[in-house]
Amino acid sequence: MTHDPRKFRNALGCFTTGVAVITTQMEGRPPIGITVNSFASVSLDPPLVLWSLDKKSDTLSTFKSVNGFTVNVLREDHRDISSRLARQGDHSLEGLALRVGAFNGCPALEDALAHFECSVETRHEAGDHIIMIGRVLHFEYSEDGKPLLYHRGGYQGLAEGTP
Ligand SMILES: Cc1cc2nc3c(=O)[nH]c(=O)nc-3n(C[C@H](O)[C@H](O)[C@H](O)COP(=O)(O)O)c2cc1C
Repeated sequence: MTHDPRKFRNALGCFTTGVAVITTQMEGRPPIGITVNSFASVSLDPPLVLWSLDKKSDTLSTFKSVNGFTVNVLREDHRDISSRLARQGDHSLEGLALRVGAFNGCPALEDALAHFECSVETRHEAGDHIIMIGRVLHFEYSEDGKPLLYHRGGYQGLAEGTP
């Protein structure tokens, strides 16, 4: 196959996803977060989830060493948070409403649509990314509120009238 990375990205962009921020903290360092749309469920029993991290990311060394992370599912009005935490080299959570997870000790975004507090189960090298598998220690979600969506490289919301 002749590989055109841009077209490959465009093709992947046809698959609409939610948007999540992965938060964590290394001992003695400030908390950080990175925007991802690679979050997916893996297993119900045991409860496992995954997301993948670009090996070029400034956050790679952090995620290679921490024991846990929290997946924060963003709401439709969280575009600013998503864009901010997708900026290269700027993953500070300063100024955002945070809480500390009771189960993994990681920072979490107070107002997320859902939280998954994870311990790191395994890391897998996969091409130019590493796949982070998390074991869910605790989760919470809101019954109401709509998710932020990502489609063809842009943010979207659910159609009007969707519950
Ligand atoms: C909607 C959206 C989804 C993203 N999904 C991922 C992802 O799944 N994995 C990843 O490594 N980067 C993803 N990124 C890119 C990172 O957020 C961003 O490139 C990275 O934070 C760049 O800075 P860094 O080199 O400091 O990490 C995504 C960006 C956006 C806007």
